[in-house]
This record gives sequence, structure tokens and C-alpha cells, in this order.
Amino acid sequence: MVAAGVAIVAPTDAGNASESLSKRFETLATVHIEINGVDHQLELQPRVTLLDTLRERLNLTGTKKGCNRGECGACTVLLDGRRVNACLVLAVAADGRKVTTIEGLANGPHLHPVQQAFIDHDAFQCGYCTPGQVCSAVGMLREAGRGWPSHVTADLAADPELTEAEIAERMSGNLCRCGAYVNIVPAVRSAGAAS
Ligand code: FES
Ligand code: FES
Repeated sequence: MVAAGVAIVAPTDAGNASESLSKRFETLATVHIEINGVDHQLELQPRVTLLDTLRERLNLTGTKKGCNRGECGACTVLLDGRRVNACLVLAVAADGRKVTTIEGLANGPHLHPVQQAFIDHDAFQCGYCTPGQVCSAVGMLREAGRGWPSHVTADLAADPELTEAEIAERMSGNLCRCGAYVNIVPAVRSAGAAS
């Protein structure tokens, strides 16, 4: 029924719609995701995010939930090597793909160079944003290494130089409520210089 341009759903239709919606959410999808080098087959509701799958199903709680809506970067992981906000990615969208979280960066007892640089530069305070910062920096250094420009890159034809402004811009999706940026930027810079 449509009155004055507004669709009105009769109570019985609304009941049916909500029943079919909840049935759809009850339907589980089978996904295969390689996470930190380990294959996982998971039965998931299609609406579940990659972030909740990592934290709630797989107990990989290194990936943090901050805003849960793509604004803080605390949930940053690498999906097929590229950084993403895991709170904005449905787990079903990661089917057949590779995910690297903060738990998967180190090589046995050897920290990833970005992890080591964060320690060397004391680039954290409470540490809540740190896993996301580190994963983001790993992805960002890869992007810069491939010559991808950022919003502040002056010469699009040259290899980007990792200046303070470049790093700040490229890491701007990762917020630190402790304001540790003064040490995060040098940490990323030194990891970039060493890579
Ligand atoms: S928790 Fe994903 S961006 Fe904030
Ligand atoms: S170190 Fe506390 S939020 Fe960044």
C-alpha cells in the first residue's frame, strides 16, 4: 500500500519480512580464510565482520575494536597484503584470501622491523592503537615502496620520499588518543629507511 508517496507495510507483511530477514541471518556461510599462515574454515553469519571473527571466533584479540565504524584505524589488518579496516570488511568478503594480523607479523622470536621500531622509539603509551598503527605502517611502507603517491606527494613521477608530512598523511587513518604521534612518525620513518 502506498499513501502520499510513503510505502506502508501491513502488519502481516511486516511480520513476514522480519521473519524472512531473521532466517537470512540464521543461514550460515562457509568461508575459508588463511589467517597468519593458518587455513581456517568457518561457518559464519553473512553479516559478521572480519574484526568480530578475528576477536570473537578466533581469539585473535591483538586487533582492537575502537569506533567499529571505520574512523579510528585500531582494527587495521592486512588483507592480501593491503591494509583494511577489519570493522568494515565482512568476513565473507575475505573468503579465499589471506589475512595478516599483528599476531602474524613477527618471524618466530624475531619482531617485524616495524614492531621493533615502535619499541626503539617508544612509539606508544597505552598501546591500544598500536597493533593497528603497526599493521598500517607495514602496509603503508609497501605502498610507498611501490611508488604509490599520497595526497601530499608533490612529484607524482618520482619515488615518494618518506618525509614527516608523507608519513602523517599516509598514517592519518590511524588515530592515537594518547597523542603518541611525535614518536610514531619517527618509528615509521626509521622502519622505512631500514627497509
Ligand atoms: S574499529 Fe575499525 S576503524 Fe575504528
Ligand atoms: S598509544 Fe594509547 S591510543 Fe595510541
